[in-house]
Amino acid sequence: MTEMTPLRIGICGVGTVGLATISILQNQLSLLAARCGRELSVTHVGARRDHSDHLYGDAKISRDVMDVARDPDVDVVVELIGGTTVAHELVKLAIEQGKHVVTANKALIAEHGNQLLALAEASGVHLCFEAAVAGGIPVIKSLREALAGNVVSEVAGIINGTGNFILTEMSNKGRAFEDVLSEAQSLGYAEADPTFDIDGTDAAHKLVILASLAFGVPLSIDAPAKEGIQNITPEDLDYAKALGYRVKHLGIARRSGSRIEMRVHPTLIPESKQLAGVDGVLNAIMLKADAVGELLLVGPGAGGAATASSVCSDIIDIARECGPGTRPLGIPVAELNAVSVIPWEEVSSEWYLRLHVTDRPGVMSDITQKLAARGISIESLVQKAAKEGDTDVPIVILTHAVPASLISDAVEAVVALEEVQPDLALIRVEAFD
Ligand SMILES: NC(=O)c1ccc[n+]([C@@H]2O[C@H](COP(=O)([O-])OP(=O)(O)OC[C@H]3O[C@@H](n4cnc5c(N)ncnc54)[C@H](OP(=O)(O)O)[C@@H]3O)[C@@H](O)[C@H]2O)c1
Repeated sequence: MTEMTPLRIGICGVGTVGLATISILQNQLSLLAARCGRELSVTHVGARRDHSDHLYGDAKISRDVMDVARDPDVDVVVELIGGTTVAHELVKLAIEQGKHVVTANKALIAEHGNQLLALAEASGVHLCFEAAVAGGIPVIKSLREALAGNVVSEVAGIINGTGNFILTEMSNKGRAFEDVLSEAQSLGYAEADPTFDIDGTDAAHKLVILASLAFGVPLSIDAPAKEGIQNITPEDLDYAKALGYRVKHLGIARRSGSRIEMRVHPTLIPESKQLAGVDGVLNAIMLKADAVGELLLVGPGAGGAATASSVCSDIIDIARECGPGTRPLGIPVAELNAVSVIPWEEVSSEWYLRLHVTDRPGVMSDITQKLAARGISIESLVQKAAKEGDTDVPIVILTHAVPASLISDAVEAVVALEEVQPDLALIRVEAFD
């Protein structure tokens, strides 16, 4: 063992990820010491209540996590509380106290990252957040370090495991959304309040971080357009499958001239794309870059041990005094370059449109005329059989690429037809060629 002093770690929040992190640090003591050239020692734990079954070795225990940030015997504060209130205050205090910080908190980084990273830079400390995006998948290091010689043109990923689990179960077993959501909650995949998982907010937080790393833009929480999975039906998943597609909830950030696209929404992907085959709670991120080409990183996007794996990699970087340095986004915060984000309405794509219409002669031609009048050409149009006892027939249309504003206008005109029901699905299609 070297002469270097141990790295003293304060863990704040001993829930799923906090406990798993402590477990790795305790169980792999000598391996981690050999890899870092110094020991890693948990000296202080911030837990707001007693967990009698948890063992923290010789670590001090404080009910107030701010005591961990103020402790002179702590070099690194590991924030594993979540949210943007206590966690924000804690991280700010820790940096002001000259501590390095490791966090798994995407909401905190997406919403307050610019300010916290600037503070960390000015204070000469590390602020690391590998676990904040896609849990155990080392996507942040991949973008910042392994792909540092590339110009990245696109990042597209399944970055919410709960959403992917729900869509997979609905697609493979024809189960209803609410039914699968309850199971996801009972299995511990979804939060007790799953709103952020299903309305796209969680994925948007992660996309903000990925876009900043990929394109050198400031973290901008309001940038992504956002649609969740709550309106996806088993019927649409079936029709998409019959057409050779899978529906995935994706976060997409793409360079487009001097601007970027940033959006989170359900997407039809051709089943031949690897991303389309990533099922269940897995996460996957596809990266396109000029030198390396296309990469797909797949793995567990959540779970205590997988997420703690990423937390520990940040702690190890700090112990080695290498890795991200004071540039967790790859370049100094002051050099991040704000570029404009293309509004959702302007972004073109192919579209999947499913309608329910009264089966009368002439209705198809009325619909296609409304589309044609707006210059929208149809790639395929399929009339499905009516369900038993149903007078309406489903119609599924795939269009060529047009901006959202144009298709929305056309859909409004189509729905105004007497024979067309207001219940419809309009989903973007991405070929990822
Ligand atoms: N779980 C995952 O798979 C996963 C994956 C990626 C990232 N993350 C991120 O990791 C972070 C932690 O998530 P988690 O799943 O471990 O959450 P969790 O199981 O709910 O644990 C959070 C812990 O923080 C504690 N806490 C809350 N407020 C506190 C306060 N004021 N003072 C002290 N302790 C406080 C809670 O205490 P009590 O025990 O008293 O409630 C709980 O033990 C979050 O930012 C989350 O987004 C989690």
